[in-house]
Amino acid sequence: MRQVHRRFGTTIALGGVDLTLRHGEIHAVLGSNGAGKSTLMKIMVGLERPDEGEVEILGRHIERFDPGAIRALGLALVQQHFTLVPTLTGGENLVLARPEGRLRPDRQTCRDRLAALVDRYGLEVRGDVPAGELSVGEQQRLELLRALDADAKVLLLDEPTAVLTDTEADQLLRVCRDLTQEGRAVAIITHRLAEVFAGCDRVSVLREGRSVIEDAPVGEHTRADLASAMIGEHSTGTFTGRSDDARAIEASSPMDRPPRLEVRGLSIGRLQVTDLDVRRGEIVGIAGVDGNGQSELEAALSGRSDVAGRISVDGASLTATDPRVRRALGIAYIPSDRYRWGLVRPMDLSDNLELGRVARIRPRRSKRHRAARGALNSWDVRSSGPEAKASSLSGGNAQKLLLARELEGDPAVILACYPTRGLDPNAADTIAGRLLERADQGAAVLWIGAELDELCVVSDRLFVLSDGRLIGPFTAPYDRREIGLAMAGVATDQAHGR
Ligand SMILES: Nc1ncnc2c1ncn2[C@@H]1O[C@H](COP(=O)(O)OP(=O)(O)OP(=O)(O)O)[C@@H](O)[C@H]1O
Ligand SMILES: [Mg+2]
Repeated sequence: MRQVHRRFGTTIALGGVDLTLRHGEIHAVLGSNGAGKSTLMKIMVGLERPDEGEVEILGRHIERFDPGAIRALGLALVQQHFTLVPTLTGGENLVLARPEGRLRPDRQTCRDRLAALVDRYGLEVRGDVPAGELSVGEQQRLELLRALDADAKVLLLDEPTAVLTDTEADQLLRVCRDLTQEGRAVAIITHRLAEVFAGCDRVSVLREGRSVIEDAPVGEHTRADLASAMIGEHSTGTFTGRSDDARAIEASSPMDRPPRLEVRGLSIGRLQVTDLDVRRGEIVGIAGVDGNGQSELEAALSGRSDVAGRISVDGASLTATDPRVRRALGIAYIPSDRYRWGLVRPMDLSDNLELGRVARIRPRRSKRHRAARGALNSWDVRSSGPEAKASSLSGGNAQKLLLARELEGDPAVILACYPTRGLDPNAADTIAGRLLERADQGAAVLWIGAELDELCVVSDRLFVLSDGRLIGPFTAPYDRREIGLAMAGVATDQAHGR
């Protein structure tokens, strides 16, 4: 790609970007939220067209940005947000992407096709479950398998590791390595700098729609270099969480307080939680390999699924309560899939910020817009204003919009599922800091996370979800090895089930 430009209204998403991908190499594409990374990838596969610039793929100059034709050349993109049909199974979703002339292939064909891919790449996905019921990690793996099924010569991955645990992300990088050894080219967008050094050959950095580091060997750069290239100046990310000292001083206090969130005898699918409390001012982290009950826990606590057992907030039972009552009780919910459960893409930003408000009378437009402008500013949501559609936001900015709505006011309980998902390192620091602030103001925070490092920094106590059960609590200073073993399903003395 040479000197690619793309404008949306007054927003310059790309203002002259170059990118070169080579056979046999993994190329990391970095940049802050809204830098233009996703737009660049969409242009490459014909989902967007450039205003100016040249794209050449496998020796061919691209004139028509037609997704079908470009796919036929051998390009596949795993988009930042899921594109699966939620009512179809994994196998059916695969076949849908490559129909082979038959309108409705039989179940067995679909199942076999998925099983063959799962076998070949070692990325586990259940075959018979509708995609909408798979966990976010499983959906991510299914998206990947679908791209791999297309036998792409060039594979583009837009934040594939955002919801994966470190081990799963490592495995993904290994799969990419195998693919490049077969001569393919891989581009991977990520906000985790460690992955760049662990598994990538080259790196490009975008800032505000321009290339700032172009096609450099990874070895020529340090973490600090890349971070400052992303934001222009020195990193302002100073957030280090609660220090162990501060935690130790405070440690006695939250435990004496009454729990705000109480869970007793919860049973849904494979998930069994006998007893879990989150107290006022406390952040409880839930670590674990995806697919061990995370999505069940989220569905149960967010009120999406009927459950056996008791969940209460400040002593009030949540059994059979509708969303309005839950919101009135002060439950904030940051879902794992922001577009499915959190935002309405065709609606504008100010309406998205209003969703779930308990008030009966809708404020006037001018008032809503004023409030929205304040929220967008304070949460650094980069957009063209309150009237922009949610669908025009970059992934990280959509996440900030969701957080702006949910963390507004004075929530009693915050159910935070991968809250920093898709945020660049700076934004992730800011958001983690705001969640801590809410805890300090008295909220009880349950934080389901994928990155163990992050969880260890923010959590007062930590559990591992393994095979539907909570192992722990682990307390600071955390023993990563012990936690890692629990995540791998190895029982130890310290890690007792609950
Ligand atoms: N369809 C659209 N309509 C209007 N603006 C858009 C559209 N798509 C992207 N933009 C804007 O273009 C800019 C770049 O967006 P892009 O999605 O490429 O960012 P990104 O680097 O992928 O960020 P993130 O890390 O948050 O995913 C943003 O300012 C975004 O709001
Ligand atoms: Mg993006």
